[in-house]
Amino acid sequence: MIPFSKPYLSGNELKLVEEALNQGKTSGNGRFTQQCHAWLTDYFKSKCLLTHSCTAALEMAALLCALKPGDEVIMPSYTFVSTSNAFVLRGATPVFVDIRRDTLNLDETKLEAAITTKTRMIIPVFYAGVPCDMDAIMKIAKSKNIFVAVDAAQAFGSYYHGKPAGSFGHLSSLSFHDTKNIMSGEGGTLIINDPEFNERAEILWEKGTNRSKFLRGEVDKYSWVEVGSSFLPSEITAAILMAQLPKVGDVAKERCKIWNEYFAATEFLENKSVLSRQMLNPQKHSEHNGHMYYIILDKHFNREKLYFYLKEQGIQSASHYVPLHSSQAGRKYGRTSGDLPNTDFISEQLLRLPLWPGFKEVPRVVSALEDFFKKN
Ligand SMILES: Cc1ncc(COP(=O)(O)O)c(C=O)c1O
Repeated sequence: MIPFSKPYLSGNELKLVEEALNQGKTSGNGRFTQQCHAWLTDYFKSKCLLTHSCTAALEMAALLCALKPGDEVIMPSYTFVSTSNAFVLRGATPVFVDIRRDTLNLDETKLEAAITTKTRMIIPVFYAGVPCDMDAIMKIAKSKNIFVAVDAAQAFGSYYHGKPAGSFGHLSSLSFHDTKNIMSGEGGTLIINDPEFNERAEILWEKGTNRSKFLRGEVDKYSWVEVGSSFLPSEITAAILMAQLPKVGDVAKERCKIWNEYFAATEFLENKSVLSRQMLNPQKHSEHNGHMYYIILDKHFNREKLYFYLKEQGIQSASHYVPLHSSQAGRKYGRTSGDLPNTDFISEQLLRLPLWPGFKEVPRVVSALEDFFKKN
């Protein structure tokens, strides 16, 4: 079976994990965590804090912006559960808007209509590693005094206006889950682009204490300062991540090579109008990281049927998000703003194809697609 995804390995992981085990400290905020922080800060030009997941980084964003019950947070419905769950944990109400048909990202032209006096945050999601129109989003947010926390879980290695994708919004978050371009098993980072949050972020991260100050020798003891949690990963996780971070550019290049191969090889199917391909650079001023290659089936074809056909041929593919606005919890905790036709259509018809560094089976996958459309 061709798997849908294979975790990337640089080859340096075991050596660094061994060093982490031998250094006599495996709990968080040690040497490897500091190395990752230094690397990420240099890359994003902002303070970064490793977390045990992107979910945790989003939860930190909700705490940092001091969300309270009744506050509203605007986000796409076509996203992962954590984008919403992190804010619902604070009692806030997610307000779901539709996505653009080209990028599958939050439609910035729908924002103004979704904003109310209760709106406190906007959460743009960089789906498939493609940045949102951040120029437009930041302009609206600034004019209404709203925080922007970007869910860039899939976008490590992407660029917008020549800057790494995590550099946008007041806060931004990445995932290092093993399905992502760069991984540490589970893992993530919060990127603090607005330095106003720097000091509190460090406190929330270390269980609501000023322990980081204590470790730097700035205070003689540490104590409980405000509400936080344990957001930091262990040194083992940080060591795996440190073995991978420097490879982010190489991995994006390799994945984009395979992405381009898929794009060229599926053109004839688009010409037959049986599917549309993922668009090449649909967002101005951006470069994607080859995180994902998807096709969108024409409405006359059944996506589940194709999924099972590929499975029979030994090829694992994957649909994606069940829209949050129609999920059980989404209906209970959130509300929609306007209709969401693109979200509904895409969640029914999109299929992701296998892609990882070193993947050589594009011709086999495309030939299976061709057979399916001949038979259906
Ligand atoms: C858009 C988006 N946000 C958040 C997450 C959650 O990331 P993590 O598994 O690191 O918590 C994911 C995971 O795939 C995601 O795709």
